[in-house]
Amino acid sequence: MGQHRIPVRRIQPRYCSNLANTRVTSRERRTTVNKFKTQLASGPSFQDFIKGVSVIRTHAADGEYSDTHGYLSQELEMGNSRKVYFETYGCQMNVNDTEIAWSILQRRGYERTVDLNEADVVLLVTCSIREKAEQTIWNRLQQLKAMKRKRLKTRTPMKIGILGCMAERLKTDLLEQEKLVDVLAGPDAYRDLPRLLTVADGGQQASNVLLSLEETYADIMPVHHAPQGYSAFVSIMRGCDNMCSYCIVPFTRGRERSRPVSSILEEVRMLSDQGVREVTLLGQNVNSYRDTSEQFCGSDPTQLSRGFKTVYRTKQGGLRFSDLLDRVSRIDPDMRIRFTSPHPKDFPDEVLHLIAERGNICKQIHLPAQSGSSQVLKAMRRGYTREAYLDLVKNIKRIIPEVSLSSDFISGFCGETEDDHQQTLTLIREVGYNVGFLFAYSMRKKTHAYHRLQDDVPAEVKQRRLEECISVFREEAARVNTALIGSTELVLVEGESKRSAEDLCGRTDGNMKVIFPKQDVAAQAPESDAAPINAGDYVLVKILSANSQSLRGRALSHSSLRGTDTTMIETCP
Ligand code: 5AD
Ligand code: SF4
Repeated sequence: MGQHRIPVRRIQPRYCSNLANTRVTSRERRTTVNKFKTQLASGPSFQDFIKGVSVIRTHAADGEYSDTHGYLSQELEMGNSRKVYFETYGCQMNVNDTEIAWSILQRRGYERTVDLNEADVVLLVTCSIREKAEQTIWNRLQQLKAMKRKRLKTRTPMKIGILGCMAERLKTDLLEQEKLVDVLAGPDAYRDLPRLLTVADGGQQASNVLLSLEETYADIMPVHHAPQGYSAFVSIMRGCDNMCSYCIVPFTRGRERSRPVSSILEEVRMLSDQGVREVTLLGQNVNSYRDTSEQFCGSDPTQLSRGFKTVYRTKQGGLRFSDLLDRVSRIDPDMRIRFTSPHPKDFPDEVLHLIAERGNICKQIHLPAQSGSSQVLKAMRRGYTREAYLDLVKNIKRIIPEVSLSSDFISGFCGETEDDHQQTLTLIREVGYNVGFLFAYSMRKKTHAYHRLQDDVPAEVKQRRLEECISVFREEAARVNTALIGSTELVLVEGESKRSAEDLCGRTDGNMKVIFPKQDVAAQAPESDAAPINAGDYVLVKILSANSQSLRGRALSHSSLRGTDTTMIETCP
């Protein structure tokens, strides 16, 4: 899993809220809270605690949904224009989850604020992947606690919620340790947020950390929210069945499940209509996608990458990633399609040929290796050897010669020797990635490694090996990027460069950042007048210099994906 930081622009939600956006008076609030207290006092019935009975989910014809509980009325679960402030930590899935959680709360009459001081509800969307990620949240909680205490008594009390992986990992321990946390919602419990916040409003702590086998939030169109950029993320699957021995994700995000293809296509069509120029398909194991809804059940055996195996029993049938990618990429030939984060085991030739042939699927593949040593890979339970991984890289480069590769590596895993580490360095050199995400191993409770292996590489050795990996990565990335000098790249413009208002910034097909001076350039043929360059435009940029992080160049002309495409794409009606 890698972290791609691509800005998303503010996009209007698909549905219309029919809730009045008026602030409630404190008298109205008191009445509501009193009513709530009365209802709580009469208490939920036994039925309310039986799964599938207490929550009646109704799907209305227009795609709106509503959750009703036997003991809390819809009216009580309304936000009443209270202001919610979100803080998102960790991977792109969390960015997407934030928008899902917001979408749910917005429908219930909450408002969103970007000013923490204005917030009535503060929700932290958390990450547990490494100790450091959790430490950041603990520190933040201390600051928020201080804010909560200082809040004027005349204002409604501030509520703090922990959402996502950390809520799932620590469960009610978090509530006990952090008395000022009011709400806990695991990654599959965001639909329950309005109820949880209502319970918290009545002065009680509220928690839902149930994992689901089905939840994909397929019917909830996230409100893509970012000030600039023409990119959006579309979640296509959730969870992970791989059980790599070091990883907490299967425990915090649960079993793998895929969102039905029809709802993904609907969201991408909507984004295309709104002018979005780049969509990134998201999932913990995005290329393990498998829509097994009735329509696509079947018994075709799964094709894995050659030399790769899974820890779980082979799955069969369903509509696979190549089918989805094919359909998504046909929606709008001028829309770039990316995906993250894939697992190397799910790259059969079919997927690679599709990427090679389809002009709007970016020739960029994230291929998390984790280690260059077969011995360490075995201890990590990754299901492949160094040789199988390098064969896959060779196969990818054969089928997609212009491919850009990125990767994740962990330094200092249990039992990693100096020789294993050297093998990681040689693998990084041999592959030639242009982007890398490198981490020191951080032991996580519950994992196989925690129970069965020794975290025996001293912290300073982990750190030194990590630094060596980073420096080899930088050298290689600089070499790969320097090879682009003199070429002309199709760049999707993101906006002004952060460093200078005189420059623009955008990304190549290979996801490399390109900086170039702001100037008017020739419009696409047949027009020849010069036109200004705006965010969301495609421009051809001549690359003039490069380092390990970015490219610099000069814009030549406006262009389009179709204009530079070598293959014809049939579009869906
Ligand atoms: N320690 C360090 N890095 C980890 N990752 C996952 N679990 C751990 C851990 N316990 C890394 C892997 C994964 C990326 C998202 O985080 O490299 O691909
Ligand atoms: Fe974690 Fe491995 Fe699943 Fe990635 S594939 S989320 S590293 S268990």
